[in-house]
Amino acid sequence: MYTHKTNSNVTLSTLQDFKERGEKFTCLTAYDACFASILSEAGIEVMLIGDSLGMVLQGHDSTLPVTMDDMIYHTQCVKRGNKRSLLMADLPFMSYASETQTLENAAALMRAGAHMVKLEGGAWIANTTKLLAERGIPVCAHMGLTPQSVNRIGGFHVQGRDTTQAQQILQEAQLLEDSGANILLLECVPTSLAKTITESVNVPVIGIGAGPDTTAQIMVLHDVLGISPITPRFVKNFLIESKNGIPGAIEAYVEAVKGKTFPTKDHCFN
Ligand code: KIV
Repeated sequence: MYTHKTNSNVTLSTLQDFKERGEKFTCLTAYDACFASILSEAGIEVMLIGDSLGMVLQGHDSTLPVTMDDMIYHTQCVKRGNKRSLLMADLPFMSYASETQTLENAAALMRAGAHMVKLEGGAWIANTTKLLAERGIPVCAHMGLTPQSVNRIGGFHVQGRDTTQAQQILQEAQLLEDSGANILLLECVPTSLAKTITESVNVPVIGIGAGPDTTAQIMVLHDVLGISPITPRFVKNFLIESKNGIPGAIEAYVEAVKGKTFPTKDHCFN
């Protein structure tokens, strides 16, 4: 059983300390108060109110239909159940297209209970990141596979497989850190690229489908419980072997990530 849980609130400096100590922290998506309470009690450091709710809760085939009202509602629900985790909320599709929109929408998520916001993109979100950071809103920059751009990418495919694209993602990661991003999130990139990026930036890097070498691991809650309609390669069902139902599954996920037994080679892209 994982025994390093603390009673203090997780903050950005807690996460930065993990990076500096070379220890892993854990993240999961949460969308309501009931699960937020279970996840926080199990020691999950970061709960993401993800726009994946459009797919796993609302049944859409992408995250594009998710609105600011949806995000505010679910952030408020998660805040009510949270004990001590850091809450990160997604700015949904087209909610950060202009400066005014970005500031209003980020402020609305923070007022709803988020401690930081996440937005998707590469170099083109550098100015937006700077705008938010300068106004005291912590930012997580989501790179690699960015689901809000699924129509431009042409599907939910691994990114950064060829040298040119990998080099571009690495440079953009450095640019986003320089622009004020407090955390980077890499989705579906080869293990070697995620390792290089994690080693070349000072901020924590959260991975999903990005191999075992990032500072932290995130998964969609429904994936670790084995109730998502599709099972991507990087997913593991932790409920199947749990002797204590859902809380046991979440604790097993925490132990596996911190003990570096998940993800394995089978969950990675090379
Ligand atoms: O919305 C979400 O759940 C996410 C994760 C896949 C990282 O962005």
